[in-house]
Amino acid sequence: MVGETLAPVAVLGLGTMGHGIAQTFALAGYPVRGFDAHPAARASLVDRVRRNLQDFVAVGIIEPDVIEPALARLSVFETEAEALRGTWFVTEAVQEDLAVKQELFARIEAFVDDDTILASNSSTFPMSQSAARMRRPQRAIVTHWFNPPHIVPTVEVVPGPQTHESVTERTLAVLRQIGKLAIPIRKELPGFLVNRVQIAVMREVWDLLDRGVASVEEIDAAIRGSMGFRLAAIGPLEVHDFGGLDVQTAVFRNLAPEIRSSTTVPDVVQKIVDQGNFGAKTGSGFYEYPPERLAERRSLRDRKFLELLRMFYSSSTVSPVQ
Ligand SMILES: NC(=O)c1ccc[n+]([C@@H]2O[C@H](COP(=O)([O-])OP(=O)(O)OC[C@H]3O[C@@H](n4cnc5c(N)ncnc54)[C@H](O)[C@@H]3O)[C@@H](O)[C@H]2O)c1
Repeated sequence: MVGETLAPVAVLGLGTMGHGIAQTFALAGYPVRGFDAHPAARASLVDRVRRNLQDFVAVGIIEPDVIEPALARLSVFETEAEALRGTWFVTEAVQEDLAVKQELFARIEAFVDDDTILASNSSTFPMSQSAARMRRPQRAIVTHWFNPPHIVPTVEVVPGPQTHESVTERTLAVLRQIGKLAIPIRKELPGFLVNRVQIAVMREVWDLLDRGVASVEEIDAAIRGSMGFRLAAIGPLEVHDFGGLDVQTAVFRNLAPEIRSSTTVPDVVQKIVDQGNFGAKTGSGFYEYPPERLAERRSLRDRKFLELLRMFYSSSTVSPVQ
């Protein structure tokens, strides 16, 4: 691919997710045309991506001389129409509001070719909903990245009932080409695949805290040192195979009726939220985050994520082109 010019892609919404998605395409050699409704997000894109890439260099995932060519492939435009011009693959990462997404998908069709693929990074809305007002819903597909998107390997690829098979295939191919672990999801369920599992774990963890079974620190340590440890290396179904399915089915039958099934947020968590404590972003949640600790924890988290990426995925996940 070195020396080849790849056809440009667009990213709409350059916030937490969009800037990392733009980075991933740019690092893999694609010219990226970005747009965000907020001028500050447009103005800060290149600096945010530069910082991320410097972290990649610090752990040895990329060489320092890859940074400037990758940044040079990022262009930010003042209007959505300009950003979309000449692009063959568009990812929207604007806010999670169905009306906004429906309007966006219907509007942007006018600015791209008929075979341009339009992808939604929605965490919850299936394509059948976001594409409800589109003229050509067969070109639309969910590509669900995980935060931080430039580090976490998996992207769920979820076609809607009207999505054309060739769109799904081209989407899987480009995501794999830019180094992501693209997983096709064959049925359009709310929450797709991963978030359904995450919510099941969240419900039980919050319930255990609510019942006073262990402290915040103890719960985090117990899960990290067991489930988390194993899942960083192998998948849950393989874990079950090694545990023995005779044992696992007996454990399931004994414990499944015992675990929480309620759909209300447990009191212990609701009280924290009612006090205006939303976690890292407000300085307090399950833990306290005075500014120095917040910076330290965030940087430690990113270093750990990058180490995991290097350990398990770097050869397939990051394929920079200079
Ligand atoms: N944050 C996560 O962990 C996460 C994970 C997976 C998926 N998502 C999904 O990704 C999408 C974006 O989430 P985020 O966390 O990056 O949000 P964010 O608030 O950080 O970023 C959204 C950006 O979109 C911009 N924007 C809003 N309306 C716009 C429009 N019409 N055109 C262009 N830009 C517009 C905003 O100015 C903002 O910069 C949501 O659908 C969200 O559900 C988020």
